[in-house]
Amino acid sequence: MDQNKITQGGKDVRSGYGLGPVETVLSVDEVERQAAKLAAEGPSREHLGDLVGKKPLLSIERLRAGYGKMVVLHEFDLRVGAGQSLCLIGPNGAGKSTILHSIYGFTTITGGAVKMQGNDITRLSPNEKLKRAGIAYILQDTSVFPDMTVEENMFMGGFLMDRPSQAREAAERVLAKYPRLAERRNQKAGVLSGGERRLLEISRALIMEPELLLVDEPSIGLEPRYIDMVFEILHDLQHSDGKTIVMVEQNAKKGLEFADIGYVLVSGQLAMADKGSELLQNPEVGRLFLGG
Ligand SMILES: Nc1ncnc2c1ncn2[C@@H]1O[C@H](COP(=O)(O)OP(=O)(O)O)[C@@H](O)[C@H]1O
Ligand SMILES: [Mg+2]
Repeated sequence: MDQNKITQGGKDVRSGYGLGPVETVLSVDEVERQAAKLAAEGPSREHLGDLVGKKPLLSIERLRAGYGKMVVLHEFDLRVGAGQSLCLIGPNGAGKSTILHSIYGFTTITGGAVKMQGNDITRLSPNEKLKRAGIAYILQDTSVFPDMTVEENMFMGGFLMDRPSQAREAAERVLAKYPRLAERRNQKAGVLSGGERRLLEISRALIMEPELLLVDEPSIGLEPRYIDMVFEILHDLQHSDGKTIVMVEQNAKKGLEFADIGYVLVSGQLAMADKGSELLQNPEVGRLFLGG
């Protein structure tokens, strides 16, 4: 590293990578470049299995996926066990949402496999994923119907059920869990606060009683107090209801504090994988993604 040293009167004046105590704000390009170096030797498949410590509920194996002819994910692997949570972090455009899209069936998959309990579900449609494979996807962008009531929005979560009465029963079951939402059942979803809308999106995804929840950026656009509320709800779903959660979160600190397992994705490749708590302590992760 010595060749990188810039000195003036014997003092290191360079404000940059790894040298001296100077506080630095890394540019986006610089984060990308340095993170790509990390990705060059990603974690082994054995390590991903060790982090789970049991048979995985969801496993992704050597996945190659993208949109049309554009390949975003290259040989991507993931493992998460039943009742565990995993958070994906990484720079914008790294392909984090694409991983969730691929699990749910929104991408073009040209190699590898997605498995639930060892069963290959790669080619199931999103509707089949929801109805048969027990996977629900909670959209990144707000997806409630503002002109419909809270209750009607909930019924929409049961659109794949055989009878409307089943959807109504399921909605009652979920509303009973969230009095905050139940109180507003007859109001238009458009008048809900940001946090309540997020709660509605999560609740609607619970209608089909999924085992695995895919959650894209739950904190995005929310005031801090609602961010905590949303993470508490997700925590409760994992720890009280035994749901498995795979999450993308641009607030890396929140995401890694929440999740049992953290993955760092860079340019469509896995750069690091560890316990969430370990990644939080990792200086490299701190410097690149935690703003310090
Ligand atoms: N629906 C889409 N169609 C085409 N390209 C997409 C689509 N969604 C994302 N991409 C592209 O795929 C790459 C990865 O994006 P994304 O998975 O959204 O990244 P992240 O969630 O990590 O910010 C980007 O180059 C992005 O422009
Ligand atoms: Mg995204």
